[in-house]
Amino acid sequence: MTSLTVTINGAVHGPREVRDDLTMNDFLREYLGMTGTKFGCGAAQCLSCAIIVDNPDGTSITSPTCIVPAASFNGKAIRTVEGHAKDGELTALQKAFIAHFAFQCGYCTAGFLNEGQVLLERLARAPIARAELEKTIAEALDGHLCRCTGYIKYHQAVRDVILAEPARYLRSS
Ligand code: FES
Ligand code: FES
Repeated sequence: MTSLTVTINGAVHGPREVRDDLTMNDFLREYLGMTGTKFGCGAAQCLSCAIIVDNPDGTSITSPTCIVPAASFNGKAIRTVEGHAKDGELTALQKAFIAHFAFQCGYCTAGFLNEGQVLLERLARAPIARAELEKTIAEALDGHLCRCTGYIKYHQAVRDVILAEPARYLRSS
């Protein structure tokens, strides 16, 4: 057993004793009832289970949760799909997903949303040239599988959010 304290969407959970082999996916879904994070392949291949890990240096990355022990997140700050909307107001990326009908069954959506949000925040810190945009979005979303094949619409949604605020995400030259 391991003592786990983790900050999720700004709220501290724990300390709580958890089994060493308890996955973060089971901790979120079964212990906390946060079922927005999905369980797909269970083998770190589809990223439907991906959440955001906020690093102390201000950067963020996504991480699968299906095969990663909950205990490995001890002391860390993470974000899940439940943490994006504020006071019922969807984020620009969530609205763009809806506007583009990017998802059908929605099983992959939390993972794509988290990855897209990490990309937006990265570009806000380090804007890129417009010419690099398509490749940058494709590389960021690479690895996320969508059985309903919404890939192009997810890509277009992320692009729309970036192009709506070029001064924030893109270099002028
Ligand atoms: S369920 Fe975690 S990567 Fe597929
Ligand atoms: S919307 Fe169904 S798996 Fe992506």
